[in-house]
Amino acid sequence: MSQFDYIKEIAKYGLENDQEQLLEVLNKLIEHSRQTKKTNFALQLQSILKEGLRSQQSKGLTKVGSKKYFLREDDREINELIIEKLTSDYTFENLVCSEEIHEELRYFVKEHQGIDILKKFDLPVSNRILFYGPSGCGKTLASYVLAGELDKMMYVINLGAIVSSKLGETSKNLAKIFRRASGEDCIIFLDEFDSLGKVRDYSQDHGEMKRVVNTILQLFDYLPQDSIVIAATNQLQMLDDALLRRFDLKVNLDLPNKQQLSELIDKTISKTPFKFKTKKELNEIIKLSDGLSYYLVQKAILTAIKRTLFDSPTKKEEYYINTGILKTLLLKEKEAETK
Ligand SMILES: Nc1ncnc2c1ncn2[C@@H]1O[C@H](COP(=O)(O)OP(=O)(O)OP(=O)(O)O)[C@@H](O)[C@H]1O
Ligand SMILES: [Mg+2]
Repeated sequence: MSQFDYIKEIAKYGLENDQEQLLEVLNKLIEHSRQTKKTNFALQLQSILKEGLRSQQSKGLTKVGSKKYFLREDDREINELIIEKLTSDYTFENLVCSEEIHEELRYFVKEHQGIDILKKFDLPVSNRILFYGPSGCGKTLASYVLAGELDKMMYVINLGAIVSSKLGETSKNLAKIFRRASGEDCIIFLDEFDSLGKVRDYSQDHGEMKRVVNTILQLFDYLPQDSIVIAATNQLQMLDDALLRRFDLKVNLDLPNKQQLSELIDKTISKTPFKFKTKKELNEIIKLSDGLSYYLVQKAILTAIKRTLFDSPTKKEEYYINTGILKTLLLKEKEAETK
C-alpha cells in the first residue's frame, strides 16, 4: 500500500468513528514509514498515537480521586515540564568540534545502535552524557545531532523552569518524566542542568533541593540501559561531584580554535552563493573571530551577507562578502563580550 492509501483509510475510519480499524491503519502507516526511512515522521506519528490513547483513557466525566483523575493530572503536570518534544534531522555533519569529540560521540551512537551486542556480552551501555562549555558552542546542537543520528524522539526539559516554579513537586515530576520517556524510547534532554546547583544557594529551599538532587541521582542510577539522558550546562562548577560522577561521558564543547572557525565559516557560507574574495580576507576574519563563540561568528557572517546583498543587490556571477561590514560586526561582538 502507498502512503496515500493509508491516508484514505485513516480518513474513512476516522469519519466512521471506527477506533479499532483506525488504530490498526495508523500502526501500519508507522511501520510503513519506518521501512521507507521516514523515521522522523514515524516517531512523531507514534507519539501522537500514544498521547491520543492516553488522553482518551482520561477523558469524559472524571471523579476527583479516581484512577482516571490521577491519570489526567499526571498528564497535565508532565506536559507542563516538557517544553518541547522533537525529532531531529541534524547529523554529525552539522557539528563542528575536535576530532576527539567527534569520535566520542560516534562511539556513543554506536553503543546504542549495537545495544543488543553489548547486552549479550553483559557489558554496560553508556547512556548518560553531559555537555558543558560556554554559551553558543553547540551543547543544544550536539544533543539534536545525537537525537538525529539515533533516530529518537527527544523530550526537552527545562530544569530552570521546574526548579524555580514548583520546587515542592519537582522530585515527583522528574520521576514521572523519566518513566514516561523510557516507556516511549525517548531521549531526555535536561537543559540548564546547573539549576540543580543554583538552588542550593537559597537557604530556605535547602532541604527540598537536596531531595531533588537525590531523586536525580536515583533516576540516573536506575536508568534502563536503552534510555538516554543528555544534560547541558554552561556552569560546570555549580554541579555537585556526586552528580558529575553519574555521567558516563562528559563532553567539553569549548570556543572554536582557528581550524574550527575555518570549518564553521566554510559550512555557513557554503549554503549561500557568497564567498570571500581572497584567502587573505578569510584569514583576517578567522583571526578576528578568535575568542567568539560559534553562534556569534555565524550570526555576524549571516548578517554581513544580508547587508552585502542589500547594498549591492544586482545579480552578479559571483557574490563577495563585504569584509568591511563583517569586521565591524565581529569587533562589536568582541566589545560586547568584554563588557
Ligand atoms: N560546534 C558548533 N558547530 C556548528 N555550529 C554551531 C556550533 N555551536 C554553535 N553553533 C551554532 O550556534 C547555534 C547555537 O548553538 P547552541 O544552541 O547549540 O549553543 P549552546 O551551547 O546550547 O548555548 P547555551 O549555553 O546558550 O544554551 C547553533 O544552532 C548553531 O547554528
Ligand atoms: Mg543550549
